[in-house]
Amino acid sequence: MKLAIVGYGKMGRMVESLAPEYGFTIHARIDANDPMEAAQGADAAIEFSMPDAAAANLKKLAALKVNTVCGTTGWFGQLDDVRHAFENANAALVYSPNFSVGVNIFFKLLEDAAKMLEQQPEYGAWAWEIHHDAKKDAPSGTLIKAVEALRAGGYTRNIDVSSNRAGKVPGTHEIGFDSAADTITLRHTARSREGFARGALQAAKWIVGKRGVHEFANILFQQGDK
Ligand SMILES: NC(=O)c1ccc[n+]([C@@H]2O[C@H](COP(=O)([O-])OP(=O)(O)OC[C@H]3O[C@@H](n4cnc5c(N)ncnc54)[C@H](OP(=O)(O)O)[C@@H]3O)[C@@H](O)[C@H]2O)c1
Repeated sequence: MKLAIVGYGKMGRMVESLAPEYGFTIHARIDANDPMEAAQGADAAIEFSMPDAAAANLKKLAALKVNTVCGTTGWFGQLDDVRHAFENANAALVYSPNFSVGVNIFFKLLEDAAKMLEQQPEYGAWAWEIHHDAKKDAPSGTLIKAVEALRAGGYTRNIDVSSNRAGKVPGTHEIGFDSAADTITLRHTARSREGFARGALQAAKWIVGKRGVHEFANILFQQGDK
């Protein structure tokens, strides 16, 4: 299978190095200022560029009928336009702010835990994360999604949310429940950015020959349209 890499930065290069493991050869590498037409004929594209570039790139890829996996964040306000472009072209898009398979499984486990813990009022809940000291936003988008997963699971009581920024930690997210008798802790610890690239490549394998617009979590758990 032929893969076009759109955005040849840290993520694009990591995708390139892992692509052979997923059965892909590199068809094109497209960075800022390179013509998108180079992607034509690829079985799939993986897009990790910049927030202000992604929507325009995606519309060009749709026009070329190249099925695309997009990991770039910060463009979701234009999702409706992008969705129409892929639907009109009979092409496929998979997008997610977090392509880590482990994080998406973590969110599902949180939903299940919330269902059970909501029935046990003696437990209080917290949500905590730590990242390297260069990360500006706090709490992280992933911790916000983790809290949303607890709410989606039906947990209605207070959740105490906190963040630390120190050293070089790539990202640790923890949800805890505590009672007089015991503590339950659910923790996801990222080791590197590799997990994001592997999730995107898994989605790229899935998207070959597909149609429509899908969130990664839906295809990962086989709940979306195929
Ligand atoms: N969903 C996830 O799981 C996940 C995981 C990690 C990162 N991300 C997101 O993915 C994006 C990329 O991350 P990164 O760490 O790879 O960033 P990065 O190292 O800064 O790479 C971005 C690359 O995109 C290029 N670029 C800029 N404008 C472009 C355009 N119009 N068309 C094509 N390429 C263009 C840049 O080129 P120049 O340097 O020449 O400008 C650069 O090579 C960010 O939005 C980040 O938040 C998402």
